[in-house]
Amino acid sequence: MNTAVLVVDADSHVVRCNDAAAAILGRAPEALHGSSAGAWFVDVRGQAVVERTLAEGVRFKGAEAMVDRVGGGAVPVGISCAPILGPGGRVRGAVATFQDLSEMHQLRQQVLQTEKMASIGQLAAGVAHEINNPMGFIHANLFQLAEYAGDLRQLWGEVEQLQKVVSQAGSPEVREAAARLATLAEEVDVDFLLSDLAKAIRESQEGSERIRHIVQDLRDFSHQDNGELSLADVNQCLDSTANIVWPMMKHLVQLEKNYADLPAVTCYPMQLKQVFMNLLVNAFQAIESKLGASAETGHIVLRTEHHGADVVISVADTGVGIAAGDLDRIFDPFFTTKKVGAGTGLGLSTSYNIVQRHGGRIEADSQAGEGTCFRVVLPVDGIGDDA
Ligand SMILES: Nc1ncnc2c1ncn2[C@@H]1O[C@H](COP(=O)(O)OP(=O)(O)O)[C@@H](O)[C@H]1O
Ligand SMILES: [Mg+2]
Repeated sequence: MNTAVLVVDADSHVVRCNDAAAAILGRAPEALHGSSAGAWFVDVRGQAVVERTLAEGVRFKGAEAMVDRVGGGAVPVGISCAPILGPGGRVRGAVATFQDLSEMHQLRQQVLQTEKMASIGQLAAGVAHEINNPMGFIHANLFQLAEYAGDLRQLWGEVEQLQKVVSQAGSPEVREAAARLATLAEEVDVDFLLSDLAKAIRESQEGSERIRHIVQDLRDFSHQDNGELSLADVNQCLDSTANIVWPMMKHLVQLEKNYADLPAVTCYPMQLKQVFMNLLVNAFQAIESKLGASAETGHIVLRTEHHGADVVISVADTGVGIAAGDLDRIFDPFFTTKKVGAGTGLGLSTSYNIVQRHGGRIEADSQAGEGTCFRVVLPVDGIGDDA
């Protein structure tokens, strides 16, 4: 049977077990004989299932519990348990069946993530659209303001000249007016005002430029149709993207490329390049923040492989790595550990969406302080039929 089966006696000691049970618990079948069933459950719920079956003669259908696998940590299982009744209805033991739910848990996690992405994608598209219009005129006005400030500065230069001339000549009224102007100019500190005005406008322009980028990222994140569906050489997509970012990282990074022969993949090449770009930039930033100002260099390894119906692209770095607690949040929109200005937290969520749209998946392995490896698995013709 695929399902694990355990038979215990009235004292909860195992009298029989099948290979599936031994496999889930990570022990040899002989090692299980005579051991106490309650001992493998790491949670009280699991312990109670067998105990109450024996004590009360009740049946349990499909409870979720965690069991302890030797060398493998806790494994989620779905367990059912029923009493074995002897003469007079006395409980002589129990039979428990269970299945390993790890894979199902993972799938459930993926479904949740997909759902979350879909709704956040819609939200993001709406917000981006709303922000885009007012940003348009803020941006345009700031541009105008910068010009006006330049004009004012020029004008003020002329006014100062004029002031000099009239303060020495002209009627008393004119001289008096010139003196008032001079006093006021000193009070408001016109030179400072003009230079600070220009600076404030320049900074606002930078800020609005940044908002425009974020909005653009948000739109990319939620956009379905970005580029043309075609048969593409994934090695070439990866390589050309690496070439674009290479100048930025060459002082810090040694890049290794291991490309396998790949079949042409049905995909949106522009979108895939965006994914590779995000992974490469993240890898570089991780190395940058690990090495800081030291004179060392880091490594990035690009690898492509062909496994059956899939191609696998991996980007591995020797950067700071990802804390275990962050690993399941890195694909969340806006999750970032970078300082303001360095990261928007949209790179991986966008990549996740794009890969999902291609019928593939993206995974990360990381060791904090050691490095990180991202793997993108793409079906060779995953979206061929959709198209
Ligand atoms: N190669 C990597 N090494 C270490 N941490 C990474 C790596 N890639 C992503 N991360 C983590 O995931 C977070 C989210 O990444 P991303 O979505 O690209 O947003 P951003 O780069 O704007 O922060 C990063 O802030 C970082 O903490
Ligand atoms: Mg990023």
